[in-house]
Amino acid sequence: MENELQRLKKEAEEALHAISERAHLEEFRVKFLGRKGLFSRTMKQLGQVAKEERPRLGQLANAIKKEVDELFHEKKEVISTGSNTAAQDLDLSLPGRTLSCGKLHPITQVMEEICSVFEGMGFAVAEGPDVETDHYNFEALNIPKHHPARDMHDTFYVSESILLRTHTSPMQARIMEDKEPPLRYIAPGKVYRCDSDITHTPMFHQVEGFLVDRDVSFADLKGVLTSFTHRMFKKDLPLRFRPSFFPFTEPSAEVDIACVICGGSGCRVCKRTGWLEILGSGLIDPEVLKMVGYDPDEYSGFAFGLGVERIAMLKYGIDDIRLYYENDLRFLNQF
Ligand code: PHE
Repeated sequence: MENELQRLKKEAEEALHAISERAHLEEFRVKFLGRKGLFSRTMKQLGQVAKEERPRLGQLANAIKKEVDELFHEKKEVISTGSNTAAQDLDLSLPGRTLSCGKLHPITQVMEEICSVFEGMGFAVAEGPDVETDHYNFEALNIPKHHPARDMHDTFYVSESILLRTHTSPMQARIMEDKEPPLRYIAPGKVYRCDSDITHTPMFHQVEGFLVDRDVSFADLKGVLTSFTHRMFKKDLPLRFRPSFFPFTEPSAEVDIACVICGGSGCRVCKRTGWLEILGSGLIDPEVLKMVGYDPDEYSGFAFGLGVERIAMLKYGIDDIRLYYENDLRFLNQF
């Protein structure tokens, strides 16, 4: 009888395992656990076993029946919550869904590359606030109130004296104020101007760079920027230093590189000039040095501010800056 009970247990377990629909549950219950079911029938045979064996076998029979009963209720639970139906529809041989992996935005990639080129030339990296004071954004850079140069900046004001920085140049004043020459710094970050077309977005990125030491000349500036451009674009692109004006540099120059989109023949992006402006630069104006307490007779320096989006457009041949900010993954995944 003991063997019979064990066999029955095994049969019941197998039958339960095979059940996937609610309708078969009741069949199972009647067949195994019902009043006239297999367990009841087997237990009735207890009367025929030897008297000494009866209590042990009786206990065993009850324990097994209880176990099967519990399994039955568990199964019932699974089927009624529907999880089993889902399991049935599951095709374990299907390949898994791949999670798409995030990556750095192309602008971030280019910015990091710019920084690493300058770091290779011995520049240290510093970062400063996007929300800036009028003092650092303008006054400390020799742009007093009502100076016409303020018009160029299309400034977003937060209050009369607080604004979103229109360039990374405030970092020149912040760092110089804090440290003594010799200095060799770059300051990457976001800048803001109320401007939007195919080459301008209201928020864009600049990397500021400056060097202050004894006997720094325009030749040093030219050398650093030429070597940067050649390393960045991995070829010896023609560079053009065009006289310009910034209140905080004297003399000043804007630097253009040959338009890599049209090869210099003129297109929509270079406004048919064949050149693209990538940065503003110059020798730091003695007035600026004086304001941070340096003696302009002892020290001189150069500074530059380059547009990261411009460089990214040139590097990747993108002719509309707005593409970088539309968050279209089809565009972003190409970098
Ligand atoms: N800050 C200037 C701009 O945003 C660029 C610049 C930086 C020019 C440093 C000269 C020196 O246009």
